[in-house]
Amino acid sequence: MNEMTPVTDIATNAAPEKAKPALPDAQTVTEVKHWTDKLFSFKVTRPASLRFRSGEFVMIGLMNDPDPKTGKVKPLLRAYSIASPSWDEEMEFYSIKVEDGPLTSRLQHIQPGDEIILRPKPVGTLVHDALLPGKRIWFFATGTGFAPFASLLREPQTYEDYDEVIITHTCRTAGELTYGRELIESLKEDELLNEVIGEGFWKKIKYYPTTTREESPKMGRITDLMRSGEAFAELGVPPLNPESDRAMICGNLAFNLELKDLFENTYGLEEGANSKPAHFVVEKAFLD
Ligand SMILES: Cc1cc2nc3c(=O)[nH]c(=O)nc-3n(C[C@H](O)[C@H](O)[C@H](O)COP(=O)(O)OP(=O)(O)OC[C@H]3O[C@@H](n4cnc5c(N)ncnc54)[C@H](O)[C@@H]3O)c2cc1C
Ligand SMILES: NC(=O)c1ccc[n+]([C@@H]2O[C@H](COP(=O)([O-])OP(=O)(O)OC[C@H]3O[C@@H](n4cnc5c(N)ncnc54)[C@H](OP(=O)(O)O)[C@@H]3O)[C@@H](O)[C@H]2O)c1
Repeated sequence: MNEMTPVTDIATNAAPEKAKPALPDAQTVTEVKHWTDKLFSFKVTRPASLRFRSGEFVMIGLMNDPDPKTGKVKPLLRAYSIASPSWDEEMEFYSIKVEDGPLTSRLQHIQPGDEIILRPKPVGTLVHDALLPGKRIWFFATGTGFAPFASLLREPQTYEDYDEVIITHTCRTAGELTYGRELIESLKEDELLNEVIGEGFWKKIKYYPTTTREESPKMGRITDLMRSGEAFAELGVPPLNPESDRAMICGNLAFNLELKDLFENTYGLEEGANSKPAHFVVEKAFLD
């Protein structure tokens, strides 16, 4: 696996003194890292009463500019997967920078000490509770769809419940894989997981990163690589089957639909939900 360095990295580690909240549901930014000109991650303080399940998402945002007519200010909120695990003291998010995006054109400029709004109502389908017991869990992501898996890969239950953990990440360019690659590398040194699951737990993980528009060691859409059988041969596992395999999908709409069709009509898997656990679950990485 090739090591890559972030294009820009302006991490600032100093946790600022907690300022008096000026926003509703305010949390303080403690760290920001820019990975490419389109991607960044950041950490914020965690509301003391907030409980969530690894893989869930919350609404976060900033205050809008005042309405020119009424002068009123309203929150501008968007859904964000929590990228940190449920046990962590802080909360991490992994974000796109949409040039003219109402939220991210501003959110990309946050600095440690700034405040964001975080509505403490976590929800989502990418949770262990929505899957029946199995032997092997697959995480399928495109782009920022990696975020919920950044949480689940740091969640002890993932390794308690499964013998094998396979994470595939398809991005346009190699730089867009860096956040995920570094996170997976860092798991080897994860104190909690080494203690709770046992040293060498990370050997359960198989990481399969691919790019589609820039040269990298593995090129192609994961869907095509599965259909051709190449992905299974390289991972050294058979195609998914309902007895042993469980999966979570988080990507753009076309990706989600293509995988869902493949799972249901080729591999015979059934979609699950919180209310009815089954073989796989799906969530949109963003609204197209
Ligand atoms: C359940 C759920 C979870 C989400 N989790 C995350 C997350 O963890 N990280 C994250 O960055 N975004 C996430 N999103 C998308 C997020 O809600 C916003 O759309 C995003 O922050 C951009 O906001 P915006 O106001 O700048 O632009 P918007 O007006 O919201 O989006 C403008 C356009 O930008 C594109 N776009 C938006 N988000 C993305 C994205 N993540 N990747 C690629 N293209 C995108 C789409 O074409 C969209 O139509 C999630 C969305 C949903 C529904
Ligand atoms: N990322 C960039 O550098 C970039 C640049 C300009 C604009 N944008 C805009 O930003 C938005 C999101 O870009 P993004 O790159 O984060 O996300 P994206 O367009 O969802 O692409 C992410 C990855 O998913 C792959 N993919 C798309 N559909 C798929 C499918 N049905 N099956 C399997 N794989 C599939 C893409 O492959 P393919 O490359 O084969 O589609 C790409 O590798 C888009 O609206 C885009 O217009 C992004």
